[in-house]
Amino acid sequence: MGYKEEIARRRTFGIISHPDAGKTTLTEKLLLFGGAIHVAGAVKSNKIKKTATSDFMEIERQRGISVATSVMGFEYNGIKINILDTPGHQDFAEDTFRTLTACDSVIIVIDAAKGVETQTRKLMQVCRMRKTPVIVFINKLDRPAHDPFDLLDEIEKELQIHVNPLSWPIGSGDTFKGVYNIYRGGLYLFNPGGQTLPEGIEIQDLNSDELVRHIGERDAHTLCENLELIQGVYPTLEQNDYLNAEVAPVFFGSALNNFGIKELLDCFIELAPSPLPRETEERIVKADEDKFTGFVFKIHANMDPNHRDRIAFVKVCSGIFKRNTNYLHVRNGKMLKFSTPTAFMASKKSIIDEAYPGDIIGLHDTGTFKIGDTLTEGEKLHFKGIPSFSPELFKYIENADPMKSKQLAKGIDQLMDEGVAQLFVNQFNGRKIIGTVGALQFEVIEYRLLHEYGASCRWESLNLYKACWIEALDNNELIDFKKHKAQYMAKDKQGRDVFLADSQYMLHMAQENYKKLVFHFTSEF
Ligand code: G4P
Repeated sequence: MGYKEEIARRRTFGIISHPDAGKTTLTEKLLLFGGAIHVAGAVKSNKIKKTATSDFMEIERQRGISVATSVMGFEYNGIKINILDTPGHQDFAEDTFRTLTACDSVIIVIDAAKGVETQTRKLMQVCRMRKTPVIVFINKLDRPAHDPFDLLDEIEKELQIHVNPLSWPIGSGDTFKGVYNIYRGGLYLFNPGGQTLPEGIEIQDLNSDELVRHIGERDAHTLCENLELIQGVYPTLEQNDYLNAEVAPVFFGSALNNFGIKELLDCFIELAPSPLPRETEERIVKADEDKFTGFVFKIHANMDPNHRDRIAFVKVCSGIFKRNTNYLHVRNGKMLKFSTPTAFMASKKSIIDEAYPGDIIGLHDTGTFKIGDTLTEGEKLHFKGIPSFSPELFKYIENADPMKSKQLAKGIDQLMDEGVAQLFVNQFNGRKIIGTVGALQFEVIEYRLLHEYGASCRWESLNLYKACWIEALDNNELIDFKKHKAQYMAKDKQGRDVFLADSQYMLHMAQENYKKLVFHFTSEF
């Protein structure tokens, strides 16, 4: 197979949802289709359970397991599919945001009884920012559900994207009879807990007796009415509208019952994009360029304290990545080669000789990488789109063991490179501040500093509203601002100016009084 065909047959995507909507179940069913796993339940262990909020060992164990399931690759109908796992736990939301930067498209799972929930809304914001094409799967139709038209309206309103139903449910809960596949035609009857996949029933004329025979007069009547309404409201899907992230195709089903999944998958491989061109600070990189480029979007620490090595996850953006070949680590200017790059096929990790655009490779790392690093064949490129988000919780971090200050500094440094949290140094008093998106991270950091670096830390509470990156349209204004707000000025790890606002009011006043300063909530602008 030629290089271009290899690229064209790749689909790299993430599944996102609010916890409990059914992401893990859907992932598992997709893997079953690809023959990547053979029993249900294999993916479950990856989930950070709600009960684990303060059980570090459990978190670490689950983090460890999730290395293997971070990327799940399999083949289906000649298409190479890479599913990137995103942690559902909201305290790890930033991990999810970064993983989304390596996805070429996204499937959003929504619980039919709950509709759009907070986490879905937040994640969709990131997709919108990056114009990532999304497909929606409305799950749990085997349970009492909201009216499908109401669900579609809610999605349009809450997720700010047009929708286009490609399948339609007949009833829900006890009265759930199945779905009608609008995209391909055909009726699929629901058989709860059924072992075999339902065959689509072709129905030539929806107004004939055939439909009534299968689902009864009342449902047949309602379905015909609904389909007519859909035709009037939602025009035929244009693939480009989906690819431009303007319209989201919608499917209905029940992941637990393996119902509606095959239709979703069949349509997904047809519609979803192969690796997309990517922006760098210098130029746009196309997937089919000859030379290899890639970027690090995730770093995973080894949970074994005796081996403090890590795996850097690299998304191949262009060219062919080859084993034992020298590549430029753009940030530090060094040439590096990798003798044991791994790929993740069928939930197994194995050493590979080459990888194509869209693929994710795991590189053994002893601390040379940080999130966002670029690898190339020599060109000095910097991939964009891997921002840090303004953290929501802050604490001063102090050394609790004077004999171990070096270890502490190194530990903090490396954990920040991994993207566990963000470090800010207050320019007024020189104190180090750790900012996170969830309370769990503080526990993870403390635990890992002790177990991986032998360092002890102490936290001191700090009430801040937000940390914002400052962009100065007028340098004099920045100088003036820094003079007046000296106590609230910090630098991030890249040395950029950050304003630590201790209240919404304070931020508001700063925005009012300094019109030539822009306060950003993500580090990339
Ligand atoms: P998540 O990864 O998005 O957090 O959700 P997950 O797949 O773990 O699903 C959450 C719960 O919803 C699970 O039940 C799962 O079995 C159930 N579920 C998923 N899809 C469907 C569906 O189509 N219909 C119904 N009725 N339930 C569904 P649980 O009891 O929390 O977990 P478990 O004890 O079954 O593992």
